[in-house]
Amino acid sequence: VVSLEGLHAVKHAYRFGAALREVRVADRAAALELADRLAPDLRPVLETAKEVGHNAIRAAAGGRPVATGVLALAPRPPGGLADALEAPGPLVVLHDPRDLGNAGAAVRVAAAARAAGVLVAGALDPWHPVCVRGAAGLQFAQPVDRVDGLPPRPGRRPVIAVHPDGSTALGERRLPTDAAYVFGTERDGLPSEVVRAADLTLAIPMRPGVSSLNLATSVAAVLYGAGP
Ligand SMILES: C[S@@+](CC[C@H](N)C(=O)[O-])C[C@H]1O[C@@H](n2cnc3c(N)ncnc32)[C@H](O)[C@@H]1O
Repeated sequence: VVSLEGLHAVKHAYRFGAALREVRVADRAAALELADRLAPDLRPVLETAKEVGHNAIRAAAGGRPVATGVLALAPRPPGGLADALEAPGPLVVLHDPRDLGNAGAAVRVAAAARAAGVLVAGALDPWHPVCVRGAAGLQFAQPVDRVDGLPPRPGRRPVIAVHPDGSTALGERRLPTDAAYVFGTERDGLPSEVVRAADLTLAIPMRPGVSSLNLATSVAAVLYGAGP
């Protein structure tokens, strides 16, 4: 079961087919006013939600504040690794990310850019409530899964290591539409063996003196900059 914290996570999960349950609001009038402004399609869901007060919402969210006062649960959808490998479009592979919010932001942009899905190769759980919050619930819009080690050849996809010292600059040439783009961990980037094994290494050009971009920002630049 996935815990959805906040109006935006609940909204996207609902829009992409989640079977919401135990929908709770801190204050029904405030939640409905917010929905009318930001997500009118969510009104029927919130009208029947249980009103529980702010303290109960915060306690149910593990002590994390939930500014919108909206919470729900939903079963995790069935799509996983196999679906991510087979779906059309570029696959985002996050190699050992450490920050749940950052990984969530990467999931969010992958959904927006119609990626095939997101694979985390490492210990971070991309369905953790904080990651779901960072993704605004867009795990429900695409296959999202976690594996222990990086599959050496994710499906039949060419592997592109996204690395500040990559030999091809983003925008320099057309890239395959079905590539697996592998991004490194926040502090240390990609291990050299992953870079060596890739079919191509890709750099996002930066002004001299700037060492790197944020992980999720890099995912956005590549997905929108690689071209159709
Ligand atoms: C914060 S960066 C890691 C920085 C690390 N010191 C390094 O040298 O890779 C996290 C990830 O974002 C991607 N990234 C950041 N800036 C990049 C750039 N200019 N070109 C290509 N990838 C970049 C890479 O996948 C990198 O592993």
